[in-house]
Amino acid sequence: MLRTAPSAGNGGQFWHSAVAVFTPETDSYPVKRLGILTSGGDAPGMNAALRAAVRTATTHGVTVAGYLDGYSGFVAGEFLELDDRAVGNIIQRGGTLIGTSRCPEFFDPAVRRAAVEQMRLGGVEGLIVVGGDGSFRGGLALQEECGVPVAGITGTIDNDVYGTEETIGFDTAVNTALLAIDQVRDTSQSTGMMFFVEVMGRTSGAIALHTAVAGGAAGVVVPEARAEIDGLIEQLRGSIERGKRSHIIVVAEGDEAGGAFAVGEQVGRALNHEYRVVVLGHIQRGGRPTLRDRIIASEAGAMAVEGLLAGRSGFMVGRQGGKSVEVSLAEVVNRKHPTADLNLLALAQKLSG
Ligand code: ADP
Ligand code: F6P
Repeated sequence: MLRTAPSAGNGGQFWHSAVAVFTPETDSYPVKRLGILTSGGDAPGMNAALRAAVRTATTHGVTVAGYLDGYSGFVAGEFLELDDRAVGNIIQRGGTLIGTSRCPEFFDPAVRRAAVEQMRLGGVEGLIVVGGDGSFRGGLALQEECGVPVAGITGTIDNDVYGTEETIGFDTAVNTALLAIDQVRDTSQSTGMMFFVEVMGRTSGAIALHTAVAGGAAGVVVPEARAEIDGLIEQLRGSIERGKRSHIIVVAEGDEAGGAFAVGEQVGRALNHEYRVVVLGHIQRGGRPTLRDRIIASEAGAMAVEGLLAGRSGFMVGRQGGKSVEVSLAEVVNRKHPTADLNLLALAQKLSG
């Protein structure tokens, strides 16, 4: 049976108000078996989270089924038995050991109910979902419709999940993009060509804004702000006249102006200046996770298991004030995506030279 816990433990932050917990008198704790899946776009650090969750579970004598390819494996009942050895040698690897997918059937409540029946037949008593807010919506539906205890761990490079300052994968993705921008800068400086670098973020400018400031970009174009292409053209004209040779303009893929090709064409034509377009694409989703992503993923994996084993459910492990905390999943999925820090837009412009 589910009940709602009072706010607790994170300095009165408003998003920790409704974590559901199991009443010990009616529920069958201690838990013996948990399930875990990774869903949506993969993100570096998902493996570190899997490792931490599994190793925390096994120290409590709890076994773990790792469902394959997100909700697809959950629906099909396909899983990998994850023990301490199965998650060895993965903390440093990008991607996800158990695969991920987008699973349209999971929007159907009948499919979800059948999957839960199957899960219960396999002895699985709670589920950890690693993904973005879409994946959490699916997890929360399982809890609300079928009483499955669910915990969420963020795993998306877009850093666009409500209730957390950073998602697992973001730090690696911005560092990957930054390395590429630095390398493009060398050729821009040598040749005088202007570069339009497209980074990921269909609806979020977080990667673009952070890499623009850190990469010393001459301009940045993001979905959250109206693209001031005329202003960008004039700014670039001025800096070319002042003798600046290298120009990087970072464009988020989801921008209304149509991505780096469209922006490059418009700006390059107006200035009659040679330019190139570089689309970083899925390179940003892969690669070895940074130290930061490994740390926050390790904390999140451990906390998700500890929370479920303590009888709490309906929470996501997020980052607040530099700490890992439990956040109500219901709030995460019901609130709007956080807006990327637009102060960085002004800062990038101010420092563009
Ligand atoms: P992310 O988790 O990165 O936001 P998506 O929004 O694509 O990625 O969601 C991943 C998967 O989660 C979907 O393919 C689907 O299987 C499941 N999902 C998303 N939203 C819902 C929902 N409202 N109800 C049930 N399942 C959902
Ligand atoms: O992982 C997030 C993200 O990379 C978005 O920035 C991007 O728009 C999307 O996933 C692309 O995902 P896919 O190629 O898997 O559809």
